[in-house]
Amino acid sequence: MSSKARVILVTGAAGGIGGACADLLLHEGKRVCAADLKPFHDDDVHDDATDTLLLQKLDVSDQASCRAVVAATVERFGRLDGLIHMAGVHSDHDWRHLEPEEFNKLLSINVTGTFLMAKAAAEAMRKTGGGAIVLTSSGSVNLSGHGGEVSSCPAFVTSKAAVIGLVGALARSFAPLHIRVNAVSPGATDTAMMAHYDEKAVRRLSRRTLAGRIGSASEIARVASFLVSDAASYIDGQVIAVNGGETHES
Ligand SMILES: NC(=O)c1ccc[n+]([C@@H]2O[C@H](COP(=O)([O-])OP(=O)(O)OC[C@H]3O[C@@H](n4cnc5c(N)ncnc54)[C@H](O)[C@@H]3O)[C@@H](O)[C@H]2O)c1
Repeated sequence: MSSKARVILVTGAAGGIGGACADLLLHEGKRVCAADLKPFHDDDVHDDATDTLLLQKLDVSDQASCRAVVAATVERFGRLDGLIHMAGVHSDHDWRHLEPEEFNKLLSINVTGTFLMAKAAAEAMRKTGGGAIVLTSSGSVNLSGHGGEVSSCPAFVTSKAAVIGLVGALARSFAPLHIRVNAVSPGATDTAMMAHYDEKAVRRLSRRTLAGRIGSASEIARVASFLVSDAASYIDGQVIAVNGGETHES
Protein backbone atom coordinates (compact mmCIF):
# COMPACT_ATOMS: atom_id res chain seq x y z
CA MET A 1 0.00 0.00 0.00
CA SER A 2 1.46 3.40 -0.90
CA SER A 3 1.47 5.99 1.87
CA LYS A 4 -0.76 8.12 -0.38
CA ALA A 5 -3.48 5.52 -0.01
CA ARG A 6 -3.54 5.80 3.76
CA VAL A 7 -6.81 6.74 5.43
CA ILE A 8 -6.59 8.60 8.74
CA LEU A 9 -9.40 9.55 11.12
CA VAL A 10 -8.74 12.74 13.13
CA THR A 11 -10.94 13.55 16.13
CA GLY A 12 -11.19 17.05 17.59
CA ALA A 13 -10.60 18.21 14.03
CA ALA A 14 -12.67 21.41 14.43
CA GLY A 15 -10.23 22.38 17.18
CA GLY A 16 -6.72 23.82 17.09
CA ILE A 17 -4.39 20.80 17.11
CA GLY A 18 -6.84 18.37 15.47
CA GLY A 19 -7.48 20.92 12.69
CA ALA A 20 -3.73 21.29 12.16
CA CYS A 21 -3.41 17.47 12.00
CA ALA A 22 -6.17 17.21 9.37
CA ASP A 23 -4.60 20.04 7.34
CA LEU A 24 -1.16 18.44 7.43
CA LEU A 25 -2.39 14.96 6.51
CA LEU A 26 -4.39 16.33 3.56
CA HIS A 27 -1.30 18.28 2.47
CA GLU A 28 0.68 15.00 2.63
CA GLY A 29 -1.85 13.36 0.31
CA LYS A 30 -3.67 11.24 2.88
CA ARG A 31 -7.41 10.67 2.86
CA VAL A 32 -8.88 12.13 6.02
CA CYS A 33 -12.06 11.79 8.04
CA ALA A 34 -12.22 14.91 10.23
CA ALA A 35 -14.62 14.44 13.14
CA ASP A 36 -15.77 16.68 15.97
CA LEU A 37 -18.67 17.39 18.30
CA LYS A 38 -18.87 21.01 17.20
CA PRO A 39 -19.72 22.00 13.64
CA PHE A 40 -16.94 22.69 11.15
CA HIS A 41 -16.39 26.12 9.64
CA ASP A 42 -14.87 26.77 6.23
CA ASP A 43 -11.49 27.67 7.67
CA ASP A 44 -11.30 24.78 10.16
CA VAL A 45 -9.98 22.30 7.61
CA HIS A 46 -8.50 23.47 4.34
CA ASP A 47 -8.89 21.19 1.38
CA ASP A 48 -8.86 21.67 -2.34
CA ALA A 49 -9.66 18.10 -3.28
CA THR A 50 -12.87 17.27 -1.43
CA ASP A 51 -12.76 13.62 -2.46
CA THR A 52 -9.96 13.21 0.10
CA LEU A 53 -11.90 14.73 3.01
CA LEU A 54 -14.94 13.49 4.93
CA LEU A 55 -16.42 15.66 7.70
CA GLN A 56 -18.32 13.88 10.46
CA LYS A 57 -20.13 14.82 13.65
CA LEU A 58 -18.83 12.79 16.59
CA ASP A 59 -19.35 12.47 20.32
CA VAL A 60 -16.44 10.41 21.61
CA SER A 61 -18.21 9.68 24.89
CA ASP A 62 -20.85 7.69 22.97
CA GLN A 63 -19.79 4.25 21.66
CA ALA A 64 -22.44 4.24 18.91
CA SER A 65 -21.18 7.62 17.66
CA CYS A 66 -17.54 6.41 17.59
CA ARG A 67 -18.55 3.30 15.66
CA ALA A 68 -20.74 5.30 13.25
CA VAL A 69 -17.85 7.63 12.34
CA VAL A 70 -15.51 4.70 11.76
CA ALA A 71 -18.18 3.01 9.62
CA ALA A 72 -18.67 6.20 7.58
CA THR A 73 -14.91 6.44 7.03
CA VAL A 74 -14.67 2.84 5.83
CA GLU A 75 -17.73 3.25 3.62
CA ARG A 76 -16.24 6.37 1.99
CA PHE A 77 -12.57 5.36 1.70
CA GLY A 78 -12.70 1.55 1.92
CA ARG A 79 -10.46 1.17 4.98
CA LEU A 80 -9.00 2.82 8.08
CA ASP A 81 -5.22 2.91 8.60
CA GLY A 82 -4.77 5.44 11.36
CA LEU A 83 -6.45 7.35 14.18
CA ILE A 84 -5.20 10.65 15.60
CA HIS A 85 -7.38 11.24 18.63
CA MET A 86 -7.24 14.92 19.66
CA ALA A 87 -10.80 15.43 20.94
CA GLY A 88 -10.78 16.54 24.54
CA VAL A 89 -12.07 19.04 27.07
CA HIS A 90 -10.35 21.10 29.72
CA SER A 91 -11.29 22.07 33.28
CA ASP A 92 -9.53 24.82 35.20
CA HIS A 93 -11.42 24.45 38.46
CA ASP A 94 -9.32 23.80 41.53
CA TRP A 95 -10.35 21.35 44.26
CA ARG A 96 -12.59 23.86 46.05
CA HIS A 97 -14.73 24.56 42.99
CA LEU A 98 -14.59 21.22 41.20
CA GLU A 99 -17.92 19.39 41.48
CA PRO A 100 -18.40 15.65 40.82
CA GLU A 101 -20.46 16.33 37.67
CA GLU A 102 -17.57 18.21 36.08
CA PHE A 103 -15.00 15.64 37.19
CA ASN A 104 -17.09 12.82 35.72
CA LYS A 105 -17.63 14.74 32.48
CA LEU A 106 -13.87 15.12 32.03
CA LEU A 107 -13.35 11.41 32.65
CA SER A 108 -16.20 10.47 30.34
CA ILE A 109 -14.84 12.49 27.40
CA ASN A 110 -11.07 12.39 27.95
CA VAL A 111 -10.73 8.83 29.26
CA THR A 112 -13.74 6.68 28.35
CA GLY A 113 -14.03 8.59 25.06
CA THR A 114 -10.39 7.84 24.28
CA PHE A 115 -10.96 4.14 24.93
CA LEU A 116 -14.18 4.03 22.88
CA MET A 117 -12.58 5.79 19.92
CA ALA A 118 -9.50 3.56 19.97
CA LYS A 119 -11.71 0.47 20.29
CA ALA A 120 -13.90 1.46 17.34
CA ALA A 121 -10.83 2.24 15.21
CA ALA A 122 -9.12 -1.05 16.12
CA GLU A 123 -12.25 -3.01 15.18
CA ALA A 124 -11.93 -1.61 11.65
CA MET A 125 -8.12 -1.72 11.38
CA ARG A 126 -7.91 -5.40 12.32
CA LYS A 127 -9.94 -6.25 9.21
CA THR A 128 -7.25 -4.80 6.92
CA GLY A 129 -4.18 -6.09 8.71
CA GLY A 130 -3.38 -3.35 11.24
CA GLY A 131 -2.73 0.34 11.64
CA ALA A 132 -1.61 3.01 14.07
CA ILE A 133 -3.29 5.01 16.80
CA VAL A 134 -2.12 8.29 18.35
CA LEU A 135 -3.77 9.43 21.59
CA THR A 136 -3.29 12.71 23.46
CA SER A 137 -2.04 13.21 27.00
CA SER A 138 -0.76 16.50 28.43
CA GLY A 139 2.47 17.94 29.83
CA SER A 140 0.43 19.11 32.85
CA VAL A 141 0.58 15.52 34.16
CA ASN A 142 4.30 16.02 34.87
CA LEU A 143 3.81 19.49 36.34
CA SER A 144 1.12 18.54 38.86
CA GLY A 145 -1.38 20.50 36.84
CA HIS A 146 0.46 23.80 37.21
CA GLY A 147 -0.51 26.11 34.35
CA GLY A 148 -0.61 29.88 33.95
CA GLU A 149 -2.42 31.45 36.89
CA VAL A 150 -4.12 28.17 37.65
CA SER A 151 -2.51 26.34 40.55
CA SER A 152 -3.99 22.94 39.75
CA CYS A 153 -6.64 21.37 37.53
CA PRO A 154 -7.28 17.97 39.14
CA ALA A 155 -9.92 16.68 36.72
CA PHE A 156 -7.91 17.51 33.58
CA VAL A 157 -4.61 16.21 34.97
CA THR A 158 -6.22 12.99 36.21
CA SER A 159 -7.89 12.39 32.84
CA LYS A 160 -4.65 12.96 30.92
CA ALA A 161 -2.68 10.75 33.33
CA ALA A 162 -5.23 8.00 32.63
CA VAL A 163 -4.50 8.32 28.92
CA ILE A 164 -0.88 7.34 29.66
CA GLY A 165 -2.22 4.15 31.26
CA LEU A 166 -4.40 3.52 28.23
CA VAL A 167 -1.44 3.87 25.85
CA GLY A 168 0.36 0.96 27.49
CA ALA A 169 -2.74 -1.19 27.96
CA LEU A 170 -3.98 -0.68 24.39
CA ALA A 171 -0.52 -1.04 22.82
CA ARG A 172 -0.26 -4.47 24.48
CA SER A 173 -3.86 -5.40 23.62
CA PHE A 174 -3.61 -4.38 19.97
CA ALA A 175 -0.07 -5.61 19.25
CA PRO A 176 -1.35 -9.04 18.03
CA LEU A 177 -3.56 -7.10 15.59
CA HIS A 178 -0.49 -5.19 14.25
CA ILE A 179 -1.87 -1.92 15.57
CA ARG A 180 0.62 0.44 17.24
CA VAL A 181 -0.60 2.78 20.00
CA ASN A 182 1.33 5.90 21.07
CA ALA A 183 0.47 9.34 22.41
CA VAL A 184 1.64 12.90 22.05
CA SER A 185 1.89 14.91 25.25
CA PRO A 186 1.64 18.58 24.29
CA GLY A 187 2.89 21.37 26.50
CA ALA A 188 1.04 24.68 26.49
CA THR A 189 -0.10 25.13 22.89
CA ASP A 190 -1.70 28.18 21.29
CA THR A 191 -5.30 27.02 20.64
CA ALA A 192 -8.81 27.84 21.83
CA MET A 193 -8.13 25.65 24.86
CA MET A 194 -5.79 28.41 26.09
CA ALA A 195 -7.94 31.35 24.96
CA HIS A 196 -8.85 32.30 28.53
CA TYR A 197 -5.19 32.64 29.58
CA ASP A 198 -4.17 36.31 29.76
CA GLU A 199 -0.79 37.67 28.56
CA LYS A 200 0.76 37.33 32.01
CA ALA A 201 -0.22 33.66 32.19
CA VAL A 202 1.14 32.97 28.69
CA ARG A 203 4.45 34.68 29.63
CA ARG A 204 4.64 32.49 32.71
CA LEU A 205 3.96 29.33 30.68
CA SER A 206 6.59 30.43 28.14
CA ARG A 207 9.24 31.01 30.82
CA ARG A 208 9.02 27.43 32.04
CA THR A 209 10.06 26.05 28.62
CA LEU A 210 13.60 25.85 27.28
CA ALA A 211 12.23 27.23 23.99
CA GLY A 212 10.98 30.32 25.82
CA ARG A 213 7.55 30.22 24.17
CA ILE A 214 4.38 28.19 24.00
CA GLY A 215 3.91 25.76 21.10
CA SER A 216 1.85 26.06 17.94
CA ALA A 217 -0.79 23.55 16.84
CA SER A 218 1.25 22.65 13.75
CA GLU A 219 4.27 21.72 15.92
CA ILE A 220 2.13 19.13 17.73
CA ALA A 221 0.49 17.99 14.48
CA ARG A 222 3.87 17.22 12.85
CA VAL A 223 4.72 14.75 15.63
CA ALA A 224 1.25 13.14 15.62
CA SER A 225 1.47 12.77 11.83
CA PHE A 226 4.89 11.11 12.19
CA LEU A 227 3.66 8.70 14.88
CA VAL A 228 0.68 7.57 12.79
CA SER A 229 2.91 7.02 9.74
CA ASP A 230 4.95 3.98 8.76
CA ALA A 231 8.08 6.03 9.47
CA ALA A 232 7.32 5.35 13.16
CA SER A 233 6.94 1.59 12.62
CA TYR A 234 9.23 0.70 15.58
CA ILE A 235 7.61 3.12 18.07
CA ASP A 236 4.90 1.48 20.16
CA GLY A 237 3.43 2.11 23.61
CA GLN A 238 5.23 5.47 24.00
CA VAL A 239 4.17 8.92 25.16
CA ILE A 240 6.13 11.56 23.25
CA ALA A 241 6.44 14.97 24.94
CA VAL A 242 6.16 17.91 22.53
CA ASN A 243 6.65 20.86 24.82
CA GLY A 244 9.71 22.96 23.97
CA GLY A 245 11.54 21.49 26.96
CA GLU A 246 8.81 22.26 29.46
CA THR A 247 10.66 21.35 32.64
CA HIS A 248 10.83 24.45 34.78
CA GLU A 249 8.45 25.89 37.31
CA SER A 250 8.44 29.69 37.27
N1 LIG B 1 -3.76 23.47 23.88
C1 LIG B 1 -3.02 23.02 24.89
O1 LIG B 1 -2.30 23.79 25.56
C2 LIG B 1 -2.99 21.54 25.23
C3 LIG B 1 -2.05 21.08 26.16
C4 LIG B 1 -2.03 19.73 26.50
C5 LIG B 1 -2.92 18.84 25.90
N2 LIG B 1 -3.82 19.32 24.98
C6 LIG B 1 -4.74 18.34 24.40
O2 LIG B 1 -4.67 18.41 22.98
C7 LIG B 1 -5.94 18.02 22.42
C8 LIG B 1 -6.39 19.07 21.42
O3 LIG B 1 -6.59 20.28 22.14
P1 LIG B 1 -6.69 21.72 21.44
O4 LIG B 1 -5.72 22.59 22.13
O5 LIG B 1 -6.66 21.60 19.97
O6 LIG B 1 -8.14 22.18 21.98
P2 LIG B 1 -9.43 22.63 21.18
O7 LIG B 1 -10.41 23.00 22.25
O8 LIG B 1 -9.09 23.64 20.16
O9 LIG B 1 -9.89 21.28 20.45
C9 LIG B 1 -10.52 20.22 21.12
C10 LIG B 1 -11.65 19.71 20.22
O10 LIG B 1 -12.25 18.57 20.83
C11 LIG B 1 -13.64 18.63 20.53
N3 LIG B 1 -14.43 17.84 21.46
C12 LIG B 1 -14.72 18.11 22.75
N4 LIG B 1 -15.52 17.18 23.27
C13 LIG B 1 -15.77 16.29 22.27
C14 LIG B 1 -16.56 15.10 22.18
N5 LIG B 1 -17.27 14.65 23.24
N6 LIG B 1 -16.58 14.43 21.01
C15 LIG B 1 -15.88 14.88 19.95
N7 LIG B 1 -15.13 16.01 19.95
C16 LIG B 1 -15.08 16.70 21.12
C17 LIG B 1 -13.99 20.12 20.64
O11 LIG B 1 -15.20 20.43 19.98
C18 LIG B 1 -12.76 20.76 20.03
O12 LIG B 1 -12.95 21.04 18.65
C19 LIG B 1 -6.90 17.85 23.61
O13 LIG B 1 -7.02 16.49 23.94
C20 LIG B 1 -6.19 18.61 24.73
O14 LIG B 1 -6.53 18.17 26.01
C21 LIG B 1 -3.88 20.63 24.63
